[in-house]
Amino acid sequence: MCGIVGYIGRNEAVPVLLDGLRRLEYRGYDSAGIATLGNGRIDVRKKTGRIANLAELIAQSPIAGHAGISHTRWATHGGISDENAHPHSDRSGRLFLCHNGVIENYASLREQLVREGHEFQGQTDTEVLTHLVGKHYDEAGGAPGSARLVTALREALRHVVGTYGIILMHADAPDVIVGARRGSPLVIGIGKGENFFASDVSAVVAHTQQAVYLKDFDIAVLGADDFEITSLLGGASGYEVTKVEFSADDVSKGDFPHYMLKEIFEQPETIRDATRGRLSHEEATAKLGGLGMTPEELRNIDRIILTGCGTAAHAAMCGEYIIEALAHIPVEVEFASEFRYRQLPLPKNTLVFCISQSGETADTLAALRESRRKGLRTLGICNNVASTIARESDGGCYMHAGPEIGVAATKSFTSQVTILTLIALLLGRMRHLSTTEGMRIIGEIEALPDKVRRILEQTDHIRRIAEKYAKSQAMMFLGRQFNYPVAMEGALKMKEISYIHASGHPSAELKHGIIALITPELPTVVIAPEDSVFEKNLSNIEEVRARKGPIIAIGTEGHEEALRRVADDLITIPACPDYLSPILTSIPLQLLAYHTAVALGCDVDKPRNLAKSVTVE
Ligand code: G6P
Repeated sequence: MCGIVGYIGRNEAVPVLLDGLRRLEYRGYDSAGIATLGNGRIDVRKKTGRIANLAELIAQSPIAGHAGISHTRWATHGGISDENAHPHSDRSGRLFLCHNGVIENYASLREQLVREGHEFQGQTDTEVLTHLVGKHYDEAGGAPGSARLVTALREALRHVVGTYGIILMHADAPDVIVGARRGSPLVIGIGKGENFFASDVSAVVAHTQQAVYLKDFDIAVLGADDFEITSLLGGASGYEVTKVEFSADDVSKGDFPHYMLKEIFEQPETIRDATRGRLSHEEATAKLGGLGMTPEELRNIDRIILTGCGTAAHAAMCGEYIIEALAHIPVEVEFASEFRYRQLPLPKNTLVFCISQSGETADTLAALRESRRKGLRTLGICNNVASTIARESDGGCYMHAGPEIGVAATKSFTSQVTILTLIALLLGRMRHLSTTEGMRIIGEIEALPDKVRRILEQTDHIRRIAEKYAKSQAMMFLGRQFNYPVAMEGALKMKEISYIHASGHPSAELKHGIIALITPELPTVVIAPEDSVFEKNLSNIEEVRARKGPIIAIGTEGHEEALRRVADDLITIPACPDYLSPILTSIPLQLLAYHTAVALGCDVDKPRNLAKSVTVE
């Protein structure tokens, strides 16, 4: 949510910043702006809408310099307007700042600054922060320059309540750009004769694969050839240089028209990558060294909490069914935003998993901190290596799915469910599962990528179904047991990218109210693979059919006959055990949402109002 890119080096900053912003556009696209520092002054251009609008503005009215800061915005405080776009300036017009996060006490700070004679152009909390830094710069003694800027920033941040990843520069300090973080991600990219700031390393990976992930309270000063990191809490701050494991090609669309489609089609590999090196044939179990727990500790767990937001919360719901089925351990799923405020009894042998693709979602991070505060072992299931959740948890399991750029999560969902299956296998084998059962489960997990490939081959068939129903005002998704969460996820995908209202329910709940909605105009997607509740699902389908509701069924190859009789349209998945079916049934629903959005001309990768990584509460 909100993307930041900063550059200092020998090259012109604008092309580097525009390219970086394009790569971060998934984080927000309400407005964008760039400020460059050259010839002792700072010039700024900003524009509502996409990066393309900003690029056009700069083409008409160029700015130049070898240092610059830039931002793509997902609006929180203040409407979507040119004035509210970042970078913001202080009253001298010589200091500029970009911010990701929320300054919670901005209203009182603003009042104070207004009393002192400051005038504001817009309504953002960021503009308040910029004036605050500017005020302390003006008041600080000493020669103009970078040392004074850092002193002013430290002083200003002492008065701030809230979260920030910020970068700033001052015309008096042309040799540096400065960044600070608390609660919102900020990374340094280390180049040769050039250095970068970014909210996400994907913005700079075309230039360097050497990165430093800043910690909360770090303040970093970047020159073209060096950098220094100190802590707001005092003294130098230790850091580690990390080699980024993906390249610029991994963050391109390749031959696909959209990132989302590319990511859907990557799933045979990403599911495989989630299991790579983690399945032991000899011991018929999963090996998850990153959990950092002894067999005894794992055996002692008597309760598990799975938490996350959005798609990750749906993966958690699948995990609840899978862990209960394979490991017989009670599992509770809680939206991260709720977990934190609940009075949840948390017995000592409770294990908490925080599930987050980005590893930066503010609500999930808050849940992690809360459960650690209460002394619980808290593990992360993240995709972004070195993300805040990954770093702050006691251990965990990386997804290794590669960058997910499409705002609607796809491959991260199947990776998360795969990892939860490995956890269930590991815990089950420490309890009641036999070697034979363990081997059978491993065999089924290893067969998944090929089965996914067979589902992907149906993309044209699914496109035709999507086109048939694309004009619907609303859609319903039903599923039972393992596929109830998939119904929720299918509905979420449809809402997110096609803007068709959709809701997901347990199939049997239909008759308890939802059936009132059924009309010939409301298509219902029923996830009904050949499983222990197939017959029950069939009865629910009949109930919809009796009210002339169109049915799109997801069924199992070789068992289509009964479904063909009752469904208007049918999509099949290869046969698999009940507990693995979410990994397969979710894929046709991703494709259904994708093709519907394309048929409606929606912006698939950047749906309205959304941001991929929500770093505010
Ligand atoms: C946002 C995105 C969702 C995503 C959720 C959790 O709301 O729009 O697509 O599922 O955040 O993201 P995370 O990175 O924590 O998995």
